Amino acid sequence: MDSVGPLGLQQGDGAPGCPQEALPCPSNSPELVQECLRQFKVTGAQLRQIQASLLGSMEQALSGQANPAPTVRMLPTYVGSVPHGTEQGDFVVLELGAIGASLRVLWVTLMGTKGHRMEPQSREFVIPQEVMVGPGQQLFDFAARCLSEFLDAFPVGNQGLQLGFSFSFPCHQTGLDKSTLISWTKGFRCSGVEGQDVVQLLRDAIQRQGAYSIDVVAVVNDAVGTMMGCEPGAGPCEVGLVVDTGTNACYMEEARHVAVLDEDRGRVCISVEWGSFSDDGALGPVLTTFDHALDHESLNPGAQRFEKMIGGLYLGELVRLVLAHLAQRGVLFGGCTSPALLSRGGILLEHVAEMEDPSAGAARVHTILQDLGLRPRASDTELVRHVCAAVCTRAAQLCAAALAAVLSRLQRSREQETLQIAVATGGRVFERHPRFLSILQETVMLLAPKCDVSFIPSVDGGGRGVAMVTAVAARLAAHRRLLEETLAPFRLTREQLAAVQAQMREAMARGLRGEASSLRMLPTYVRATPDGSERGDFLALDLGGTNFRVLLVRVATGGVQISSQIYSIPECVAQGSGQQLFDHIVDCIVDFQQKQGLSGQSLPLGFTFSFPCRQLGLDQGILLTWTKGFNASDCEGQDVVCLLREAIRRRQATELNVVAIVNDTVGTMMSCGYEDPRCEVGLIVGTGTNACYMEELRNVASVAGDSGHMCINMEWGAFGDDGSLGMLSTNFDASVDQASINPGKQRFEKMISGMYLGEIVRHVLLHLTSLGVLFRGQPTQRLQTRDIFKTKFLSEIESDSLALRQVRAILEALGLPLTSDDALMVLEVCQAVSQRAAQLCGAGVAAVVEKIRENRGLEELTVSVGVDGTLYKMHPHFSSLVAATVRELAPRCAVTFLQSEDGSGKGAALVTAVACRLAQMTHV
Ligand code: G6P
Ligand code: BGC
Ligand code: BGC
Repeated sequence: MDSVGPLGLQQGDGAPGCPQEALPCPSNSPELVQECLRQFKVTGAQLRQIQASLLGSMEQALSGQANPAPTVRMLPTYVGSVPHGTEQGDFVVLELGAIGASLRVLWVTLMGTKGHRMEPQSREFVIPQEVMVGPGQQLFDFAARCLSEFLDAFPVGNQGLQLGFSFSFPCHQTGLDKSTLISWTKGFRCSGVEGQDVVQLLRDAIQRQGAYSIDVVAVVNDAVGTMMGCEPGAGPCEVGLVVDTGTNACYMEEARHVAVLDEDRGRVCISVEWGSFSDDGALGPVLTTFDHALDHESLNPGAQRFEKMIGGLYLGELVRLVLAHLAQRGVLFGGCTSPALLSRGGILLEHVAEMEDPSAGAARVHTILQDLGLRPRASDTELVRHVCAAVCTRAAQLCAAALAAVLSRLQRSREQETLQIAVATGGRVFERHPRFLSILQETVMLLAPKCDVSFIPSVDGGGRGVAMVTAVAARLAAHRRLLEETLAPFRLTREQLAAVQAQMREAMARGLRGEASSLRMLPTYVRATPDGSERGDFLALDLGGTNFRVLLVRVATGGVQISSQIYSIPECVAQGSGQQLFDHIVDCIVDFQQKQGLSGQSLPLGFTFSFPCRQLGLDQGILLTWTKGFNASDCEGQDVVCLLREAIRRRQATELNVVAIVNDTVGTMMSCGYEDPRCEVGLIVGTGTNACYMEELRNVASVAGDSGHMCINMEWGAFGDDGSLGMLSTNFDASVDQASINPGKQRFEKMISGMYLGEIVRHVLLHLTSLGVLFRGQPTQRLQTRDIFKTKFLSEIESDSLALRQVRAILEALGLPLTSDDALMVLEVCQAVSQRAAQLCGAGVAAVVEKIRENRGLEELTVSVGVDGTLYKMHPHFSSLVAATVRELAPRCAVTFLQSEDGSGKGAALVTAVACRLAQMTHV
């Protein structure tokens, strides 16, 4: 008993496929025929409903709505621009899945703007059925073998080849060369591939084949290849439409409408994957019993229902099912059937296309039906052609409804009432089926009347388009390699950081012993952190950071109250004469006193002076050298307390009593020490950087006494000025140093602090632009302007909450025309530069806390570090990277970082308060 198909089709009874005696044409055959053909009729209303429903599903998917799950996937393809014709080079393209049971390998030479077009050379390889449904590895090994066989014909030698992989199945792409197969379609069903990265599977197979060194740089859907392969003259095409064994389309969507992408500008190519469109409301009425039968028999029942009404893999099957249905009801072929007619795949797209081809004529149809083992009567051929026409017309109309949905989406996405658009078409249904395109065009004009659509047949099935994408991917991959090479010196290893820590320890020891060292290790005459008994009102100055501040600090039992005022230090004053600078400082103090109603009151004053000073006492500090953009004359080598007192005298502000001068690191340590007595380290990472800590007096060779402690201002900004950091310094650091007002000095500071990080980034960006990696290789005037790239931009650009679009906004405000890839690379440059800074800073802190631990012979040390400085406070990751590096390099120290709230002015006041208390005790 032969098998019975879903349509109750008998398979093979009586004389080969024929009933005992030829069946007279049943009287109702016309109805039977009409009833069959009517099923394939789709009304305008139904087409509009399909158009609307598909559009709805597309927009649901774009907005990232997951429930109910949209029936089309709308997959971003990472193709962000249509080709701009500059692509050039030789590329190998491997096409799998676009043309059914065969794969194609192409050698494509792109000539760039040189214009004339080289014909791609290609070869097709039939994929054995068992390979299409066998283990995935077998399929990819088969592809790799075909690749080598193809390349054997080319004088490749051992040159590296770049390959574009056209993989025509629904995939989640996470990059131009990273794509995970969602599900097989179109007769493929290999195991172990769904959910896998198909690029990696191909790379592994090529590796196993080992014949050629082939770099798979891009994976592209055939619809995208078709769009990108659009003839430059004709395009650019912004829609790619494929109807081959399967069907699909892609188009250029506004990136801001694609929820999964955090992009707000530019366009991105979306692969619609409309083959899976199903909406019972819209499709239900047009699905015929033959469609259900076909789906039931297919490899993926229930899936790709829309594709199964359009794709070339199915058109022949639909025709077969209808013909078999009519044959067994005696309507056709005298009720005779044949094994070909009764078996799946018996009628192919080619058959249908030829039988429908008006020029083919009945004779050709006759031959085809005979080849299928049938004995058609004259009336049969016409009927068969009607069936073919019905099936194909419906396919073209449904495809048109889907395309019209894409066009409507484009109108909405671009807020354009009318739309002029070029659609690249590809696939054998277009090539072979005589009327498919014309029916599609007519129907699109009906469904999308406001769209002026030109259809551009792709000349080589998208091979060139895939090569275009591969060229773009190759360019981006090359850029990425250049970016990594450029940033590699900024990526410090644990060993390098441990070496910095060890070198700093040695330099600290030499500095404390008064030997030559890039670390001056300056005694500050602060011997104790506050003990909370300090009391009184104090004036404090805070010079050397971003802002110059004058403060009134009231230290009382209830705590410390501060009122302060920020004054600017114009660059001309900071780099003018010393007298001018200190007169300006005293003017600010007097102005502050007046505003605070303190005029005439004599309050002890603590002076935070954030520059390297050799202190001879609490109120004596010889400026060793200016840093951080200050360069006032006649100050270096002078006691800055004297310079201040002289300025006070010149201003007759006699009531001002300068009691102490402290470095901002010391002020910060004291300020935080007031809250947490374990705070014995001060750290500044702002305009400049530096640290101080409580050292054992016995270790400070330049100060008498060997009991108790002395706070040491390390002046670590100068670490490495003896060349000991040479192995870490990059050309960018050298450029920043040479352009600074103190070349060769403060090398450690110039790798870490806020005054310099922006400049380092700017130099890296200039370098990458000169390599053509950034900004299309066009250096803008702005980017060549010193200090145009502020360090605060790093903090803004690296903030997690900032989407790439905001990164772009910052850079565009700088007059830098950039692509989204550029924005991503600028972000990576900022991350590399700030990460190195934070790690170097962490290595320094690790050296200090380990010194304290060893000083005290402790197994474990618990210590707090008072920190201040805009970079440390504002940068989103700096502080955590410093802490992580300290944990890594000083695991036996439990370090708490306390961000100073009131700045070091409070610390200066506390140092002054301690000095006053000690002075009173010596006087009693
Ligand atoms: C705070 C302190 C200053 C210190 C500054 C460093 O403002 O009060 O004494 O110099 O931080 O940070 P900055 O980012 O301002 O250079
Ligand atoms: C696949 C698409 C492909 C289309 C045309 C469909 O079955 O899902 O990715 O573009 O066929 O080949
Ligand atoms: C100065 C230090 C200061 C640091 C932070 C450096 O340039 O030399 O004295 O502590 O900046 O402001």
